[in-house]
This record gives sequence, structure tokens and C-alpha cells, in this order.
Amino acid sequence: MKVKTKAYAKINLLLDIEGLRTDGYHELFMIMQSVSAADTVTVEKVRGGGIGVTCNVEGIPCDESNIVYKCAREFFRYNRITRYGINIDINKRIPHAAGLAGGSADGAGTLVALNELYGTELSADELCEIGLKVGSDIPFCIVGGTKLAQGRGEVLSKVKPLRKCYIVLAKPEISVSTGKAYAAFDEFGKSRTPDKLGMLCAVQSRDLRAVCDKLDNVFEQFIEVPARVDIKQVMRDNGALGACMSGSGPTVFGIFENKDDAENAAAELKTFVKDVLVTTPVSKGVKICK
Ligand code: C5P
Repeated sequence: MKVKTKAYAKINLLLDIEGLRTDGYHELFMIMQSVSAADTVTVEKVRGGGIGVTCNVEGIPCDESNIVYKCAREFFRYNRITRYGINIDINKRIPHAAGLAGGSADGAGTLVALNELYGTELSADELCEIGLKVGSDIPFCIVGGTKLAQGRGEVLSKVKPLRKCYIVLAKPEISVSTGKAYAAFDEFGKSRTPDKLGMLCAVQSRDLRAVCDKLDNVFEQFIEVPARVDIKQVMRDNGALGACMSGSGPTVFGIFENKDDAENAAAELKTFVKDVLVTTPVSKGVKICK
């Protein structure tokens, strides 16, 4: 018996860090959007006990440190299931350590698949509660679509869906540690606060151009990504309505109304950026493949 899921990547249309919390995490205000770049996560019941992890990409740890392993362990604890034997296979397409929540998406895919495989009928809220024990972005990755995310990232509010568009993702070859990125915020602080109200108004009026005018991410103020300026320039030269970094980086995304423009930008970006993908917004975090 196995269940296969598509676990979607996310971008941050806006990301503000509002301060340091007493629990050591940071208080966030983010407008999140799921995009069509996805990993496939397949969970299968197997003979013998325990949790096995396999992955098509070298360098991803397939042990207890993997987010999918931790999510499965928390799922079984929550449901008081003590006898289990599963394998979780991850087929990675989302660039990792990229600011696209690839690992969190895999965790979300695992939880949704396990809920189906074991017939536990947990609600989305319950799955999010389990996911939050493992990572701050997992609740959003379970729910997906377009959301306002606050708190650690788990307090999700419904906002209007983004209009149809094309989103080009360009990930330069450097990796950014999320923990270190937040530590840099603690050290340097921010010099400017994104226009959160302006972005919310733009989102709620479904005005794509206004959304693109308000794209902003405080991490850009203190995380150095040498290729960022050039990537944004190529995106704009090819007709992007706006461009911004996602999460703690280094991925830069550009939003286009026109598919040909997006593809032309992607072709030019591929000459100097390793991972480039043309995506569209999606309304879910995880899809069960039938
Ligand atoms: O929750 P998650 O394990 O994905 O977070 C990775 C790191 O990012 C945390 O160890 C913490 O340093 C930082 N973080 C934070 N505030 C948040 C989310 C993450 O400081 N709201």
C-alpha cells in the first residue's frame, strides 16, 4: 500500500520580521504563495519496523535528521501508533536550501500521505499542529495557496488568491542557512519595514501590478546574494512586473503576466544561474496523486 503526493514549493511575496520572541523564534508577517514547482513524496507501508527514507538527490541526509523522518515520527506519536514500517521516497525537483521551503514541503507531503495511508482522518489543523513541532513553514506547506502567515509562520489567514501569472524562480549556486539568516537579523536589525498594509490591500483587490510593486523581503537588507542584482535586471528587462528574494534566499523570483516573457527571462537566466524554473501559482500545498 502506498500514497503518492505532490508537495509544492512556496515563495514569499512579502516577508517582514517584526521582532525576536521570548521562545527564541522571530515574529513574522509574510504573504506566502504556493507555486507549481513540486517534489513527489511517496509513502509506502513495508515489512519490518521503522521509518526508511530514500531520495533521488545526493547530499540529502536519509536519516533521522531529515524533516520527513521527523514528521513521520511525530505523526505516529500523535496517533499513538507504535507498530509501523514505512518507507518515504522523495523525488526532489524543488532546489534545496533555496528559500523555497523544499524540505518543509516534503514534510507536509509526508503528513498528508500518512493521514491517507493510515486512515487517521486528521483535520488540516491537526496535521499543522504535528507539522509545527518539526518546522515553522510546514503548516503553510500543508495548507498552501495564498496566505497571510504570522507568528512563527503558523498563524495562517485566508487572503484572496493571486491572479494568473508566471513566476520564474532563479536559484544561484550558494546556500543560505535559515538559522544564520535570522541571527544576522539579530545582529544588524532592519533599516526599513515593508509596506504590509499596502501589500494586503493589493492582494485583497487582486491587483497583480500593485502586488508586484509591493514585493519586499527584509532578508534582502542583510543577506548578500551576489547575483541578485543581475537576476532582477534580467527579469525586469524581459518584462517582469516585479522581482524579489524568497525566504532567507538565495532564490530570486520574478512575476510575469505573459508566458513568453517568463520563458525568455528563464532562457537568459540559465546562461548564468544554475537552477531556473518557470512556475505558476497553485491553490494547494499538497496534492494526493490518484
Ligand atoms: O522552524 P524551523 O526549524 O524551520 O526554523 C529554522 C530556524 O529559523 C530556527 O532554528 C530559527 O533559528 C529560525 N526561525 C526563527 N523564527 C521563525 C522561524 C524560524 O527564528 N519564525
